[in-house]
Amino acid sequence: MKTLAYTCLLILSTCVTKAQNNTSENGKAIFEHKCQRCHGSDGTKGLFGAKNLQISRLENTELVSVISKGRRGMPRWERKLSSTEIESVATYIKSLRK
Ligand code: HEC
Repeated sequence: MKTLAYTCLLILSTCVTKAQNNTSENGKAIFEHKCQRCHGSDGTKGLFGAKNLQISRLENTELVSVISKGRRGMPRWERKLSSTEIESVATYIKSLRK
């Protein structure tokens, strides 16, 4: 019985890890399609005054808000991306930070 429980746990944790990886994969794909032309692949391009995402220190809620609503030269994405997609891309851009 114990072995069964451990096996279940193992399978479960593998799924959770996979799901997390998928999120950052999606975030990367979204970034490459929608954000890279202004922010650059490493977040530092700065086209049209785009902020350097490597030195950005915004917290999750602010990131989601800027991405959703836009700000000055930054387009709003709430109609083009789902909230899950906005969260994955926010997670991805945080991974660009040094
Ligand atoms: C048309 C060019 C353009 C595109 C495309 C673009 N951005 Fe921006 N982004 C900007 C500009 C310009 C700013 C600076 C806005 C300001 O000065 O208030 C900015 C600012 C930001 C900030 C705020 C950083 C900070 O520290 O203040 C975040 C986060 C951000 N962009 C994320 C994204 C994401 C994620 C995407 C793709 C979904 C994206 N941007 C696509 C131009 C762009």
